Amino acid sequence: MSELNKIALKIISNGKGILAADESNGTMTKRLEAVNVNSTPENRLLFRETLFSSESMKKYIGGVILYDETINQTTNFGESIPDLISSSGAIPGIKVDIGTKSLANSSEEKITEGLDGLRERLDKYYKLGARFTKWRGVYTISNKYPSKLAINSNAHALARYSALVQESKMVPIVEPEVLMDGDHSADICLRKTSEVIKKCFDELIFHKVDLSGIILKPNMVLSGNQSKNQISNEEISQKTLECLKNSVPIEVPGIAFLSGGQSEIEATKNLNLINKNNNTKFIMTFSYGRALQQSALGKWSKNIKNIKETQNTFNHRAKMCSLAALGKWSNELENK
Ligand code: G3H
Repeated sequence: MSELNKIALKIISNGKGILAADESNGTMTKRLEAVNVNSTPENRLLFRETLFSSESMKKYIGGVILYDETINQTTNFGESIPDLISSSGAIPGIKVDIGTKSLANSSEEKITEGLDGLRERLDKYYKLGARFTKWRGVYTISNKYPSKLAINSNAHALARYSALVQESKMVPIVEPEVLMDGDHSADICLRKTSEVIKKCFDELIFHKVDLSGIILKPNMVLSGNQSKNQISNEEISQKTLECLKNSVPIEVPGIAFLSGGQSEIEATKNLNLINKNNNTKFIMTFSYGRALQQSALGKWSKNIKNIKETQNTFNHRAKMCSLAALGKWSNELENK
């Protein structure tokens, strides 16, 4: 087993998943302002260190994805953020893309940037304690999109990123996110998501990336959020499994889904059914941002000094997601 494969498995095995706390300052400001909290470096740190020092970190969280600001911060108790995460047994990770820009010659679509100087930034993050990284490509669905141009250029960037990350002895999370925005059917989402993922693996293989040392972070297969034909959770799980079974090479150790705007409960229910029905050899777990943090953020915003209750809320969510990663979640446990 390679070192990278060991790191990947440590992050996602035994019902553990990933806390995606890598919102850029712009996104975090939107999240905080939505609950009437000032977005200062101190407040961003306080919320995040409240989550990272929760009891559930030891049992349910295998890795935390950080943003550049956070990985460089020190807690109010004088410990570095990567040390705080490692002390709970989880692995610190870092988002290394620098966001999206409009794609030349298909300007309504996006290309993710951040390859220039990446090798040097990776070196710095490794020294700070990171052992895995994240890069997100983003695709929209409509009659024309995603275009071949967007599919190919984002896959190329994801592959160049992954090769550099593995060279730096870290595990790349490969995140091609097909957005849920639109009125498309779940079958179209299935087709487009499969096309996007297959192209990513073509490029990863071409760039000689060790597939046993990556984690795939895809969207689930859903109807568009404007579609009148929403499908059941059972159908979501079946279509998601069909997509991954046909598009992901067997060397890949595991898949950690993004929540992508699903509610906490929907994201949990769907992951649970995916695991109950899992007829693949892949570990299927969570790498949720909003679906792990939303309730905790709501609780915290009522009183940012109320650490205990914020942590209790987060602990419950993390436990439910972990149960779902084992196919053992139920409504009763959710509402206990
Ligand atoms: O890149 C996306 C995030 O890491 C996951 O966030 O679960 O809120 O979609 P989300």
